[in-house]
Amino acid sequence: MRVMRGIGSAVIAIGWLCSSLSFMLQASPLTTSTSAQQIAVTQGNWQLQSPDGQVQLQLTLSLDGLRYQVQYQQQPIIRPSLLGLQFVGQPRLQQQLAATVATRDADLQWQTVWGQRKTVRDHYRELTLNLHETATVSTHPARKLSLVFRAYNDGVAFRYVMPAQPAFEKAWQLERELTEFNFAQNFKAWWLPVRSLSYEYPYQMSALSGIDNAHTPLLLLGRNVAVSIHEADLTDYAAMTIQASNDNTLAFHADLIRWHGQTADPVASGKTTTGSVAVKGVALCGDDEFKSPWRTISLGQNEVALLNSDLILNLNDPLPEGTDTSYIKPGKYIGIWWEMHIGEKDWSPGPMQGATTARAKQYIDFAAKHGIDSVLIEGWNQGWEGQWWQRPPTFSFTKPVQGFAFDEVLAYAKARGVALISHHETAAGVSYYEARMNEAYQFLQDRGIHSIKTGYVGKKLDADVVNEGSGEWHDGQFMVQHQQHVVELAAKHQLMVNAHETVKDTGLSRTYPNMMSRESVRGMEYNGGSPDTGNAPDHTVIIPFTRGLAGPIDFTPGIFNFAYQKHRPFNRVPSTLANQLALYVTLYSPLQMAADLPEHYENHPAFAFIKQVPTDWAQSQALQGKVGEYLVVARQDRHSSTWYLGATSNEQARELQVPLDFLSANQGYQLTIYQDGPDADWQTNPAAYQIVKRSANRGDVLTLKLAPGGGAAVVLTPKP
Ligand code: NOJ
Ligand code: CA
Repeated sequence: MRVMRGIGSAVIAIGWLCSSLSFMLQASPLTTSTSAQQIAVTQGNWQLQSPDGQVQLQLTLSLDGLRYQVQYQQQPIIRPSLLGLQFVGQPRLQQQLAATVATRDADLQWQTVWGQRKTVRDHYRELTLNLHETATVSTHPARKLSLVFRAYNDGVAFRYVMPAQPAFEKAWQLERELTEFNFAQNFKAWWLPVRSLSYEYPYQMSALSGIDNAHTPLLLLGRNVAVSIHEADLTDYAAMTIQASNDNTLAFHADLIRWHGQTADPVASGKTTTGSVAVKGVALCGDDEFKSPWRTISLGQNEVALLNSDLILNLNDPLPEGTDTSYIKPGKYIGIWWEMHIGEKDWSPGPMQGATTARAKQYIDFAAKHGIDSVLIEGWNQGWEGQWWQRPPTFSFTKPVQGFAFDEVLAYAKARGVALISHHETAAGVSYYEARMNEAYQFLQDRGIHSIKTGYVGKKLDADVVNEGSGEWHDGQFMVQHQQHVVELAAKHQLMVNAHETVKDTGLSRTYPNMMSRESVRGMEYNGGSPDTGNAPDHTVIIPFTRGLAGPIDFTPGIFNFAYQKHRPFNRVPSTLANQLALYVTLYSPLQMAADLPEHYENHPAFAFIKQVPTDWAQSQALQGKVGEYLVVARQDRHSSTWYLGATSNEQARELQVPLDFLSANQGYQLTIYQDGPDADWQTNPAAYQIVKRSANRGDVLTLKLAPGGGAAVVLTPKP
């Protein structure tokens, strides 16, 4: 059961205690089978293999606890690692356990509402250990706990399940999860340090042993193996980070982001461990159970294989039967946005105000002319005066700013078949926003608006501005609950959500398909922003393999004008124009922004690619690449037989040979190739590109020459 628990006063309880009614759409079973063994044992060994036998999970129960270990194609990945939970005021739930076991195999397939592919196969073997403490252990009543393990061809997952029982009859608190990750190899790691105000930092690369504390997805590379550690179905729990257990070893453990608490100087230390509580739970009764998110270990022969995995989505609940998806439409948008980030305009009212009626109409005209679905307007509402990010929020979510005639703009857009995206910046004031969400969402629904972009800029959530240590992290249970509240309430009001500065994705869009996209990454805004904050050219060939494994990214590509240094002399977009086009294919999102200003696209032949490229796919294949170096991805449009291919490089020029094996046999294709000009270079000549046409068939090899910071974007249209 999914339970929405309350935050502040504007709480909505959905499915409260002791009544769990939820109807799930059945995925179509190809096969399922189950078995169970009823006699409890206090010591034992169990093996679980993936359907193809390549992934092996071994479980060992002994007096000091339950350990798991993982092998991939005979290579050790995780050495024996203990599992368990530590609840506040209770002894560790880890030792002196007895187990019964049940197994289940499943081979299912399900249809996405939108996504990288239309049909997803969900094929796994499952083993559940139902554990109970042996009676003699503690002063506490013996507790029960189940661990569910799954082996897929592309990885391993496990989760903790707490059934209702005497020790959890009252509200309970989880102090820490005792999940260990004792890695078997000193992998090469691509990781994001935990700073927890956001995920908006550059990635780092080092030996695994050099990591102190990293966010997930954490990418690990060994010889003939790539591993991604992450989590799935993060609902009403705290986000997991991976923490070194000792310096310079391969022993790590799960470290959950904590609720606020008192320590000397949490801000200066940058650590997330400010309180002693990670998860707050309500009393469990009757058939209630509490499930942790799945801990996931994705596995493949190389990092490109990880991009073709559906493990994270498969581990989320199916779409509830009867869900209204009529208003959910993937698509492209433009917006009054980049002109603020490059300092041409501002969010604040006054002479620099970006959101004016006239400017909005220009964007709408442009969208209508070019078939762009929607227009985002930031700064449309009251409350942006001065240093808005540094003070408690003053935003209205229903009242337009002076100079922006909301009704007139909306009517203008509707008359031209263009949708509007409303913007809800909260300046990290979650309780403030929660108190206004009902009214704000009703306001939009009454006007036929189906999209919001949310944001939580500036500080810890609900922080008291005079007390820097106060407030909740952007990835603790507080934010997880809030994000869930947003997406559920938004669905009631037929709103799609694109969230910035929110907690990382863990595949919830399978269950809540109005959760379209998230930022949760260092996006394009950093190339505008304040001096010297720009991303490096390799950033966009790192994030598909790290952040991208979590879910869709609202990166906002499509910058064509590289000469915006009037206000931003130290910033630039670190790529060529052809690279910007390729990002629409290599960085997946069902909502893609064409981020530049309309006048920067006019009369630019390359804009034809942005107009044409879809954001919803029948199938997708990551073809080749190396994290930090390059990536080639091909995707087929969900509504036609046309394929699109994107290739991007880091600061190196390179030539790639791409076999066109994904095309249909017995069908000729017309290729339109948007490629770097011969002298293109992200530093000296970023805007040089060529548009080349040729024919090709399945099996042909396409040679692509990428400039430093370059790319190529290809449309492959079946010939009539
Ligand atoms: C940060 C968001 O990431 C960005 O897209 C937005 O423009 C600003 N906040 C203002 O809300
Ligand atoms: Ca941001």
